Amino acid sequence: MSLIQHLMSNGPSGFGYGSTAEEVTAGLSLAGKCILVTGCNSGLGLEALRVLSLRGARVVGTARTVEKARAACADAGGAAVPLACELSEPASVRACVAAVIEQRIRLDAIICNAGIMALPRLEKGHGFELQFFTNHIGHFILVTGLLPQLTENGRVVMLSSAAHAMAPRAGIEFDNLAGEKSYSAWGAYGQSKLANMLFAGELARRFAGTTKTANAVHPGVISTNLGRHMNPIAVASMALFGPLFLKDAAQGAATGIYAAVHAGAANISGAYFADCNVAKARADAYDAQLAGRLWEVSEKIAAQ
Ligand SMILES: NC(=O)c1ccc[n+]([C@@H]2O[C@H](COP(=O)([O-])OP(=O)(O)OC[C@H]3O[C@@H](n4cnc5c(N)ncnc54)[C@H](OP(=O)(O)O)[C@@H]3O)[C@@H](O)[C@H]2O)c1
Repeated sequence: MSLIQHLMSNGPSGFGYGSTAEEVTAGLSLAGKCILVTGCNSGLGLEALRVLSLRGARVVGTARTVEKARAACADAGGAAVPLACELSEPASVRACVAAVIEQRIRLDAIICNAGIMALPRLEKGHGFELQFFTNHIGHFILVTGLLPQLTENGRVVMLSSAAHAMAPRAGIEFDNLAGEKSYSAWGAYGQSKLANMLFAGELARRFAGTTKTANAVHPGVISTNLGRHMNPIAVASMALFGPLFLKDAAQGAATGIYAAVHAGAANISGAYFADCNVAKARADAYDAQLAGRLWEVSEKIAAQ
């Protein structure tokens, strides 16, 4: 199949590269459903908040500050609940978990969408490389804290990336989680996105025998604020040529939403989706031993 044919055609799910979040939820009523979306104030999270609200879901929209969350939720109309959740601050993540529990909110899905990408220089949070800490550890604390709030058929969706393939050869460099032995912007981003995938896989194994699911998705390549740390020439080229080869936010939000709410994904767990269909990730993204070790290490970090 040529590239053009791939971009134009749909996969077994009935959706494909060009499908939008509105298309994957067309005809679906999400009334009575409650879905938490992290990073609801920008890019794919903002589009997810809009479309899920449009279909009648009550969205718990989290952002780094409650002001940002409030503004995004107000724009989405409906009954969205704004909460602060600064993923690089475990106290903020725990306060978010506590607020959900206190308000007795039961979650039909958690979409772990927020993220940072390719910080040019090593930055740290609580002694750990910041992309690993924000993208993985922050969501690890959030999701493990919210597991009791998941409904019987609850789904967890991790926004990973095809860039997981840029993770170090070792997968997760457990002896370099502070990034001080060596650091590369894309290697660290890739590691954090591989961690998102390993977390979804381990969660899926822990959900075995239940009707809960956990999956990871690659949303596509979309020009959003995520590129803020990229080289300005690359950003300018994306702005100029982007429309020719990038997805827009409506298409970018589709795969995560498909995995979170579509009936076609209800019985799929431990998978990696791209373009609204099950796809193939790097081999070690499915490594149960690596995922188990990451879970143990993450628990220790979260307990600090
Ligand atoms: N865009 C792409 O091409 C692409 C490709 C593959 C994967 N992804 C993944 O898709 C997800 C969404 O990305 P996007 O393109 O929509 O990016 P975006 O527009 O930059 O949105 C990212 C969101 O994450 C939030 N965030 C960043 N740091 C945070 C922190 N410490 N605590 C809490 N929230 C934080 C941002 O908040 P602020 O606005 O306040 O900073 C924003 O709401 C990310 O996980 C990304 O890795 C994107």
